[in-house]
Amino acid sequence: MCGIIGLTVKKGVLRKKLGTVLKQCLKNLEYRGYDSVGFALISWDGELVVRKSKGKIDDVSRKLGFDDYDGSTGIAHTRWATHGKPNDINAHPHVDCKLKIAVVHNGIIENYQELREELIRKGHVFVSETDTEVVVHLVEEYKKKGMSTYEAFKAAIKKLRGAYALALIDVDEPGKIFFARNTSPLIVGLAKEMKFIASDIPAFLEYTNKVIVLRDGEVGYITPDTVFIEHIDKGRVNISERIKVIDWTPEMAKKAGYPHYMLKEIHEQPLALSSTLAGIGLEAEKLAELIASSKYVYLTGAGTSYHATLIAEYLINNLVGVKATAFIASEYNRYGKTISKGDLLIAVSQSGETIDTLMAVRKAKSKKAVIAAISNVVDSAIPRESDITVYTRAGPEIGVAATKTFTTQVLLLSWIAVKAAELKGEIKSTEALQMYNTLKKIPDIVDSVIKVVEPFSRKISSEVASKSNAYYLGRGLGVPVSMEGALKLKEVAYIHAEAYPAGESKHGPIALVEEGFPVFFTVLDDDNKDLLVANIEEMRARGAWIIVVAPKDFEKVVKLSYFTFKMPKIVFWFEPIPYIVPYQLIAYYTSIIKGYDPDKPRNLAKTVTVE
Ligand code: F6R
Repeated sequence: MCGIIGLTVKKGVLRKKLGTVLKQCLKNLEYRGYDSVGFALISWDGELVVRKSKGKIDDVSRKLGFDDYDGSTGIAHTRWATHGKPNDINAHPHVDCKLKIAVVHNGIIENYQELREELIRKGHVFVSETDTEVVVHLVEEYKKKGMSTYEAFKAAIKKLRGAYALALIDVDEPGKIFFARNTSPLIVGLAKEMKFIASDIPAFLEYTNKVIVLRDGEVGYITPDTVFIEHIDKGRVNISERIKVIDWTPEMAKKAGYPHYMLKEIHEQPLALSSTLAGIGLEAEKLAELIASSKYVYLTGAGTSYHATLIAEYLINNLVGVKATAFIASEYNRYGKTISKGDLLIAVSQSGETIDTLMAVRKAKSKKAVIAAISNVVDSAIPRESDITVYTRAGPEIGVAATKTFTTQVLLLSWIAVKAAELKGEIKSTEALQMYNTLKKIPDIVDSVIKVVEPFSRKISSEVASKSNAYYLGRGLGVPVSMEGALKLKEVAYIHAEAYPAGESKHGPIALVEEGFPVFFTVLDDDNKDLLVANIEEMRARGAWIIVVAPKDFEKVVKLSYFTFKMPKIVFWFEPIPYIVPYQLIAYYTSIIKGYDPDKPRNLAKTVTVE
């Protein structure tokens, strides 16, 4: 939550004003929060300029004239409120009493109350309700004692408890941006005669793809020509060993002609899936070996990533024959006692930074379980704390609703499950080969599904838009697909949607069904098909409005439904991947018809770094 960007640059290098570049970089981080926006820069005359306000980047920038300001060094912030209401005063940056130092922050400083009281006693005047403001006053306080800005910054960091990604500027040291990271993500971008600091790589991808991903406990500063990083306790970091070149193009991070990132990312799935397949290598095989040899496999994730773990749980139990349990990451204490040495925890997180998932990882690690991560972001926190990581290669996902990262997670986990089943002797090599061949065809299958279902999804959405509730039902592997479909509708179209195993209807939920109540059925090509027909019948008898996603030759459901999405025939185990596509598109188009912005659903942020 919250996006940070900082840039320090030599005179004449940028063809635009610094305020404009900060605004553009910030736009690439808007998915991280959009309650309020602000920047601070040191003008070429050495003055500190601070502009900030409640609202989204474009509106605030128009109102405050970001484009009019230029200088050598600047920091900017887009906020997702945690401490203090989203208003002009609580917007970042925050400044010291003398208006010389400015700071932006992502995270939560847990001990800010006590620090604030201490600083107030020393005469500091606080203007906001935020936890962040303590940082800038602490630096001011240490500077009063004769420390340089960097020494004062480090001394301040040592006082903080909690999660933070910080960037700070000081008019006494123009040309420098001081930074620190603990838990919240922070990346250095290296370009000729300018250096960036940001919460995420797409922020500065237009300028450079050379990055250093900062680690917990690291502090330092950038100038246009240099980067200095040290670990707060362990000393200086060798920069050259840490530089990575990212193969994402700026186009990959932009909308590429689509009206929204969400639609672009749905359409990018064939590419994301084939890149993920192409990237499968030794690490994926190692994870398959670990699964095949584990006593017990736990899987964890949040939201969409949790739904991917439910699919993997099914495959590991039923295809590999190893006991597996998926749990929601924030509920990590559920297995706190039973998880132990010899167990494997697979943590799934596209961002690699979700704090709930990170806490589950730490808990399992403390119980000596082996930790495997599935992530889309290289070197992010969860991979770094895991024993092994297998990466999806979906490219940056900007839309808040996860789409391409879900299908790539499921594809990768499916491949790993097949490999584990083969290694364990649960399936023959010839059978495994057939399955790998099917997985190779998934990108093309998804491509054709998008083309076929998109016009129908759009049409159905105009009716879904008038509804205020919906059920998404399935059995077996169809349950997590239904859960993901319901989550998409909730988060971008703001329609209450509930998913549950179809057999549960008569145990309670069917009481809600009346004429026109929408029920989506996920009918996979397995033994549950006929039971699902009976479930559809019982809903129909109560007047439900029924939409079905089913194999194309399963004619029985067509006459029972308002509309049936006819899906291509593939090995049943892998059906969740194409079957989610109509649900993604229905959520997207319903959101559009209702006049919402699906890329920035209200109250949500892409990366959730608070518990
Ligand atoms: C839903 C969505 C969220 C995330 C969840 C976990 O569309 O995007 O539910 O799936 O916050 O995020 P990661 O995968 O980054 O750990």
